[in-house]
Amino acid sequence: AFDIEIASSGRVIPVRADTTALQALLDAGLDIPMSCEQGVCGTCLTRVKSGQPDHRDHYLTPEEQAANDQFLPCCSRARSARLVLDL
Ligand code: FES
Repeated sequence: AFDIEIASSGRVIPVRADTTALQALLDAGLDIPMSCEQGVCGTCLTRVKSGQPDHRDHYLTPEEQAANDQFLPCCSRARSARLVLDL
């Protein structure tokens, strides 16, 4: 489990081990575009301001993943205790 912080509001949303970051954001009322929910289409791409994503998608290049400034919340998680998202 890890926490997501919404940069614009400071709101902190916990992501339990049995749910996706995308689902936690949707459940919290955020409007995240999505389509495949399998990490292939890129629709849910979200900017990361701080923290380290645990990339599990098949969309970003290895270089893009290594930059740690964006992730795909439908499938990716976090290596750090908190991800701050540019939302
Ligand atoms: Fe397709 Fe996330 S919804 S990559």
